[in-house]
Amino acid sequence: MSVAWLNEAGGLRYHLRGVRYAETLWQPFRFALAEWLYAWQPPEKKLVVVGASGGWCVQPFFYERFTDVLCLEPDPLAHFFFRRRLARAPLESRPRLRFERRDHLLGDSTALVRLLEAEGDAAVLFTNVVGQLRVLLDAQSADDAPLAAVRAAIRAATAGRSWASFHDRVSGPLEPELTAAAYVERRLTDAEIVRRFFPALEAGAVRSDGSGELLDHLTAGFFPAERPHAYFSWPLMPGVFHVIEATSGVRPA
Ligand SMILES: C[S@@+](CC[C@H](N)C(=O)[O-])C[C@H]1O[C@@H](n2cnc3c(N)ncnc32)[C@H](O)[C@@H]1O
Repeated sequence: MSVAWLNEAGGLRYHLRGVRYAETLWQPFRFALAEWLYAWQPPEKKLVVVGASGGWCVQPFFYERFTDVLCLEPDPLAHFFFRRRLARAPLESRPRLRFERRDHLLGDSTALVRLLEAEGDAAVLFTNVVGQLRVLLDAQSADDAPLAAVRAAIRAATAGRSWASFHDRVSGPLEPELTAAAYVERRLTDAEIVRRFFPALEAGAVRSDGSGELLDHLTAGFFPAERPHAYFSWPLMPGVFHVIEATSGVRPA
């Protein structure tokens, strides 16, 4: 799909959901995510946000701590909504906002590193985009070559700087038993995801081909599994539930 405002990972349909659900169905997730993001304290004053969309899930006050925010987002509608959400929020300080439509993620595997180097001392935040790569790249398994290339590019881009990501880990029609957030010492295995959040399901319920009750969003290997991780329930819409995985790292000050 080449039309950015109709792209498979976001676009107009996603903005309509954002308008409808951000303050209602998504509110508990957004609140829990804000707490998790608050604990991420990178020393960098610049931030690059990958897959910013209209900023539907990240509370605007998160951006107060940065002087410059560059959003990598191909969808021009998203720029409008993002800018408007920040303008309307009662922030004590406002970062300089910039938007970049050109792809730095899916094509040239050196593009993200080069952009971050050009930005200088910038932290990078992946906002619910890593779990969408399987859709954006039409990947069927973790071994898919374009997906592996983006994985390597993200690993290179996060080396030596502060980074954070929240992304779809699994999704399906069953509501996870995950009322607030679950904070754990390392990335959970698929079997642990099922046992902790879907105790009614069989251990093999997570599948990458869509044949199980839970769709694997193919996010293994992007970030260090041994780092602390957090898990949240995000009801994308009534009857569709995503378990969001979040992890971060901070470069030495
Ligand atoms: C699920 S949405 C992100 C949700 C959003 N962060 C929020 O707060 O609601 C995924 C986003 O990734 C964007 N996207 C698609 N291709 C991209 C690319 N090559 N680089 C950066 N973002 C991309 C889509 O336009 C979409 O807005």
